[in-house]
Amino acid sequence: LVAGVDSSTQSCKVLIWDPNSRQIVREGRAKHPSGTEVDPQHWWDALLEAIESAGGLSDVSAISIAGQQHGMVLLDQDGNVLRPALLWNDTRSSGEAGELIEHFGADWLAKQTGSLPVASFTATKLRWVLNNEPEIAKQVAAVCLPHDYLSWRLSENYPNLSGLFTDRSDASGTGYFNPSTNEYLSEVIAFCLGHQVLLPRVLGPRESTAKVRSDLASHEIRIGAGMGDNAGAAKGLELSPGMFAVSLGTSGTVFGATASATSDASGCVAGFADAQGYFLPLVCTINAARVIEWGAQLLGVGLTEFGELALKADLGAGGVRVTPYLEGERTPNLPDATASVTGITLANGTRENFARACIEGMLRGLAFGGEVIEKQGLEIKSISLIGGAAANPAVQQIAKEVFSAEVFVPEPAEYVALGAAKQAAELLGK
Ligand code: XUL
Repeated sequence: LVAGVDSSTQSCKVLIWDPNSRQIVREGRAKHPSGTEVDPQHWWDALLEAIESAGGLSDVSAISIAGQQHGMVLLDQDGNVLRPALLWNDTRSSGEAGELIEHFGADWLAKQTGSLPVASFTATKLRWVLNNEPEIAKQVAAVCLPHDYLSWRLSENYPNLSGLFTDRSDASGTGYFNPSTNEYLSEVIAFCLGHQVLLPRVLGPRESTAKVRSDLASHEIRIGAGMGDNAGAAKGLELSPGMFAVSLGTSGTVFGATASATSDASGCVAGFADAQGYFLPLVCTINAARVIEWGAQLLGVGLTEFGELALKADLGAGGVRVTPYLEGERTPNLPDATASVTGITLANGTRENFARACIEGMLRGLAFGGEVIEKQGLEIKSISLIGGAAANPAVQQIAKEVFSAEVFVPEPAEYVALGAAKQAAELLGK
């Protein structure tokens, strides 16, 4: 058996998977504190709790961890965490994203990293620490991402910094990695932190350099390279070229695997790497599942009733429009934006139209994302709708109306953890 882990913004999920029958054998989960700034110890505690609730690892031979992308984990030379991690949804470093673009130029950054930095990217967070917490910046000996941190703590390498490892998909979300050459950009690190640091070794999708610590397992369990969560979902879904996915979790993402690298100097499409050896152009919005949770709370109804209300209204919500920038926005890049509800009259200002306008607002941001991906010369032939909010029948129905490509709703599953499990299985030659 193998284990696949999804350490997300709010929780940790573990699947124990049988690579021969391709069936899930057991699963476990644990919640951890969320927000935009979190002590990585909470992710570790949640991982151990989720492993235990999945029945442990005694019959498991390999494990891989997928994690929320971009989170900045700072380590000192003894392997201690220097400050709480700043996560993908923390927008405080938007000014620093501008500093990076001014210093290196948009064209150079897009060419080298596939993307323009936005506040989500790790590089901008490092520069924010240099600008605002210079005493901490000086002590940084190594920088890693959430999934790297967990793989390392699980390994016998911990707390030796030279044992840190990552994969191309997660490294490509840092803003200091070139997904085409698979090399870190030392000039970006120097600008962001003022000195060079140790960065995790980038492993190939079928490589493993570590085993689970002997105090956690009495037999050998190999640890895979792991991956960013969106790359995990792409692997879990086994997307082939032309097939895209829209994931509606805390973040909203639209992405697909492609054979060649993309590079968008307008800053909308992130030119990430995937977890197979290819590329993963991706557009991310910060406001997804929370928009409908917020809307339902405002109307004082549950999510099912909220969906039923939305389905009673017509496409366009009678002219009511919700621009759902409840936490600022990343695409379009408006970190300080606020949400608004417009177009209301006495005639159309109903609960039904409001509910539909919330769902349409959430989905239109991603439909825009699909359009900018197509401007990169990629064709979106179909969309698999996944993530927590995709379970709502109203979201499924409205997605079919809002997206121009054909929308499929695959069987609900933990696709991120499944992608990680499939990587672990490949370590065993399965
Ligand atoms: C992608 C992104 C989010 C996080 C969420 O660029 O920032 O999807 O990976 O976990």
